[in-house]
Amino acid sequence: MPGAAPRSASATAPAKVNVQLAVGPVRPDGYHDLANVFLAVDLHDRVTVTEADIETADIETGGVETGGVRVSCVGPGSELVPADATNLAWRAVELLAAHHGRRPDVAVHIEKDIPVAGGMAGGSADAAAALLACDALWGTATPRDELLSIAAELGSDVPFSVIGGAALGRGRGELLTELPVGGVFHWVFALADGGLSTPKVYGECDRLRGDTPVPEPEPAPELLAALRDGDEAGLAGALANDLQDAALSLRPALADTLAAGREAGALAALVSGSGPSCAFLAEDAEAAARVAAALAESGTCRAARATTGPAPGTRVVSAPVHA
Ligand code: C5P
Repeated sequence: MPGAAPRSASATAPAKVNVQLAVGPVRPDGYHDLANVFLAVDLHDRVTVTEADIETADIETGGVETGGVRVSCVGPGSELVPADATNLAWRAVELLAAHHGRRPDVAVHIEKDIPVAGGMAGGSADAAAALLACDALWGTATPRDELLSIAAELGSDVPFSVIGGAALGRGRGELLTELPVGGVFHWVFALADGGLSTPKVYGECDRLRGDTPVPEPEPAPELLAALRDGDEAGLAGALANDLQDAALSLRPALADTLAAGREAGALAALVSGSGPSCAFLAEDAEAAARVAAALAESGTCRAARATTGPAPGTRVVSAPVHA
């Protein structure tokens, strides 16, 4: 088809907050068994995949090329996103292509809105979006369970980015059980300058624990009940993150951010995942706007964003029609 525009597909994927992150002892493979209660929130990255002959493609656009995939990225913090095979979205394309015995040959364009290296699963979201967008581009109609197992190979948080909503993650976080949520929760995220490395935060958690015996991680019944009932006061009382002390140990200034949000009227405050973003639960949209404004003024963070959860999982928002 001479002159035809290359075909492309786009998908969006949500950020998440861990409303409970219970971390068990370190396993022989270096991971930790978790009871990880995920809630997707309404901040999304958008990933567009476009058929491209990478050998002859114009690389002026900023991407790096090898092996039939190219990645480019725009938006806040995009300069911190790798444009090579270490990018989870790149690996997602390669794994799905290998699964179907085909060449990848796509340009991946990521539009970031989720804070980079913020403990909000932005990289996992990009991988999930790239996976579903490629599936739509290629018309491969990969069954859901196969997509989820490819997602788990990419990273512990990627399967949750695919399904969204709320879920309990066991194992290293990839074995998911969907959870009912009975309402909309209002959140504020305080974004920090610079990221925190997830392996370093887990390592610091182990170091701080020393030889203290660590119990098997279990979800808190009162937290699951609060989610189910849409009970924000109950949820506020049950929020828990076993990585918080480690994140605070590596980045002590986060204590000031948490305090600033509490002083501004947040029902509860915690470090989001491995940090350094901090999450604040608010009573309603107005309270969230007040907390976000106070945090932005406080000088304890780079920016603050108000949003809600749960949010849907990865969604294909545009795709070519396959006969
Ligand atoms: O699975 P993912 O690549 O996202 O994990 C990044 C790192 O986080 C791992 O290499 C490991 O150091 C740490 N991690 C862990 N236990 C988990 C999940 C992640 O120790 N359950």
